[in-house]
Parts: sequence; C-alpha cells; structure tokens
Amino acid sequence: MKLFSLILTIGLLINSSQCLNNGNNKCFKLGEACKYSGDFGVSCGEHLACLPIDDDDESSEHICKEKLKLGEKCKQYNPIEVCESGLECHPTIIDDFSSNYTCIESGFAGEGENCYSDYNCVGFGILNLKCIDSKCKFEPTEKNQSIECSSFFTCPGLKKCNNSKCEPLSSLGDKCESDYDCFIGGTCSVEEKICVERYSKKLGESCLYESDTECEFGLKCDLETHFFKNGTFDYQESKCVPLVYSNTTNCIEDGCLVHEFCNGATNTCNSIKKYTNDCKEAEKERNLCYTSNNCMFSNEYYDHPFLNENSCLMKKCGMETLNYLNKCKNTFTFCD
Ligand SMILES: *[C@@H]1O[C@H](CO)[C@@H](O)[C@H](O)[C@H]1NC(C)=O
Ligand SMILES: *[C@@H]1O[C@H](CO)[C@@H](O)[C@H](O)[C@H]1NC(C)=O
Ligand SMILES: *[C@@H]1O[C@H](CO)[C@@H](O)[C@H](O)[C@H]1NC(C)=O
Ligand SMILES: *[C@@H]1O[C@H](CO)[C@@H](O)[C@H](O)[C@H]1NC(C)=O
Ligand SMILES: *[C@@H]1O[C@H](CO)[C@@H](O)[C@H](O)[C@H]1NC(C)=O
Repeated sequence: MKLFSLILTIGLLINSSQCLNNGNNKCFKLGEACKYSGDFGVSCGEHLACLPIDDDDESSEHICKEKLKLGEKCKQYNPIEVCESGLECHPTIIDDFSSNYTCIESGFAGEGENCYSDYNCVGFGILNLKCIDSKCKFEPTEKNQSIECSSFFTCPGLKKCNNSKCEPLSSLGDKCESDYDCFIGGTCSVEEKICVERYSKKLGESCLYESDTECEFGLKCDLETHFFKNGTFDYQESKCVPLVYSNTTNCIEDGCLVHEFCNGATNTCNSIKKYTNDCKEAEKERNLCYTSNNCMFSNEYYDHPFLNENSCLMKKCGMETLNYLNKCKNTFTFCD
C-alpha cells in the first residue's frame, strides 16, 4: 500500500513537472498545453503554433498544433504564425473581411516577379501592384506615363522610387532619405544622410535613435541625457550602447524587450537574433545572392525575408536564406 502511494506520488510529480515544463524542455511539444506569449509562436517551435484547442473559441485552452497548410481555413488572429512558413492568414476575398480566412501565398512578389493572383504581389493589390499575365505589374491610379512608381515596391528588382522614377539603389557613401534607398546591407545614416554599412558604428558613436541597424552587433542605439552640474537638463544625444537583456522569470505577463522574445515554456526572455560572426557572414552571403539575382528585397525587411517558396528570394537564394535563418535567428532554431 505504501509502495503503491509512493509510486502514485512519483507519477504525479513527473506528470506535474511535465505540465509545468520546469526548464527541462525548452519548448512545448505537439499536443501539449502552451501559453501564447505575444509576437512569436516559438514556445511550440518553428513548425508548430500555439492555438486554441477549439478553433472557434479563442478563449479555450491553447495547445501546440501543426501549422496550417495552403488553402486551409484559419482564424484572423496572429495571421502570420498560424500558417506554415511563407503563408499568411487572410480573407479569401482579400478586401472582404467577412469572407472566410484561409492560408494564402501573399505579398512576396515585386514588380515584374511571377504571380498567379493579386494576393501574391506586395500589398495584395492595394499598392496598385496587380498580377497581370502572371507578373506583378504597377498600374498607377492615374494614367500618366511619367509616373513609373509610387513606392519602393513598385519598382522592378533592387531599385528605389525617387520622384516617381525608378533608380538604382544608393551605393556606399551616396545620398539617401531612408533605409529603402540604400544598397542591401546598408543603412541611411541619420547625421550625414548617406548610406553606410550596417553595424559600422562602434560603442559610443552617434546613431539614429530607435534604429539598431547602425551599431555594431550586440549594441543598440539609445538616448543619453546630459545634465548641467546644477542638475538642470542640458541636452540629449543618441549613441551606440551595449544591449541589455531583461531577466524576468515571468515574461508571459511582464513581456520582453524589443530585441527579445518570450518563451512560454520557460517563461524567460531570449534574444531574437544571434549576434555572432557566423550570422554576419550568413547575412553577407545572403545579401550578395539577393543583389546578384536582382530579387525584390528591402533593408526595411532585412530581418524578415519572404519565405514563400515561389518568391524570388527562395527560388534563387533558398539555401542562402535558410542558412541565414539558421545562423542568425534564435526564433528559428530555438526548439530544435
Ligand atoms: C465559409 O465557410 C463555410 C463553411 O465551410 C461555408 O458554408 C460558407 O459558405 C463560407 N462563406 C463564404 C463567404 O465563402
Ligand atoms: C504626370 O506626372 C508628372 C510628375 O508627377 C507631372 O509633372 C505631370 O504634370 C503629370 N501629367 C499629367 C497629364 O497629369
Ligand atoms: C532623387 O532625385 C534627385 C534628382 O531628381 C536627386 O537630387 C536626389 O538626390 C535623389 N534622392 C535620392 C534619395 O536618391
Ligand atoms: C544651471 O546651469 C546652467 C549652465 O551653467 C545655467 O544655464 C542654468 O541657468 C542653471 N540653472 C539653474 C536653475 O541654476
Ligand atoms: C537584470 O538584473 C540585473 C542585476 O539585478 C540588473 O542590473 C539589470 O538592470 C536587470 N536588467 C533589466 C533589463 O532590468
């Protein structure tokens, strides 16, 4: 009898530790209860999503489920994470939000790139980029031959839109207004308004506030406030400073910093990016591939390449893109 109750107790202990996931497992497994923790579904791993057990009741218990496949019905919450990589959950009739939502191949093709539906083109048709004869084509609202483009995405390949004309991206040291204008891997420096190499500013150098692209790996751009000796405010400047990490043990409630994600299984914050030399190399190779294949891409999407298998990025540079994800993104490899 005593032995029986001991076995029962051990059984219960093992069972409850699995439920709590006491740091033994980094992630929740298929079918396990999970806690949805904000922007990323990483608590279940890259190929699973933390979804309500009852599809029609968002408040029901969440478990890790297989991500949904092309054409499968989805719910509009958390539109990117519920569908398999490269797909997004959108209304089947794109601008009719009362229509059923399905996982579709959306928004990955730029001007001149292959498509079979307006959905495939960047902006799902609303940027005036329409799928015509199997290519995304810019159709300005006003017929005016001198209007070649209305935004970055309405120019073919790696071009910027300047005064309604498509022009090559600015090279290192050339003028820019924003990151869109610069060569892939460049960033528009706030001070000089010229394109500089990403990660080229060192500790203590000035940078564009809220953008971490100028500072060396492992640094971020932050405001530094200066005071006079008598304690009154003098001035503020933004400088590259070391990244800080949150040490909460309850990130589901406390949240994480912008460069982190919350893993519901451990309830701790982790860095989204791997700040390693391997990652830097993988980024360089990837950027070179995108540039030499003239695939539509932008510095604004630097950390979020289109993963749809029909995108130029994946068709021409699939290996380089996957290598980049493996080397650079903790969110991608976290549960492996
Ligand atoms: C949505 O899906 C349901 C069930 O599959 C179907 O009965 C209904 O006709 C669909 N609605 C639309 C607008 O397609
Ligand atoms: C066409 O667009 C150009 C540049 O925006 C503008 O200068 C010109 O007046 C427009 N022409 C017509 C006919 O609208
Ligand atoms: C846009 O074109 C004008 C000339 O039309 C040029 O002076 C300017 O530098 C260009 N801007 C960018 C960001 O390339
Ligand atoms: C504090 O010091 C600065 C610079 O010396 C001076 O301009 C300012 O008026 C002082 N403020 C006060 C409240 O004394
Ligand atoms: C993490 O803990 C350390 C030591 O207690 C503290 O100095 C640091 O500010 C904490 N980090 C954050 C982001 O609060």
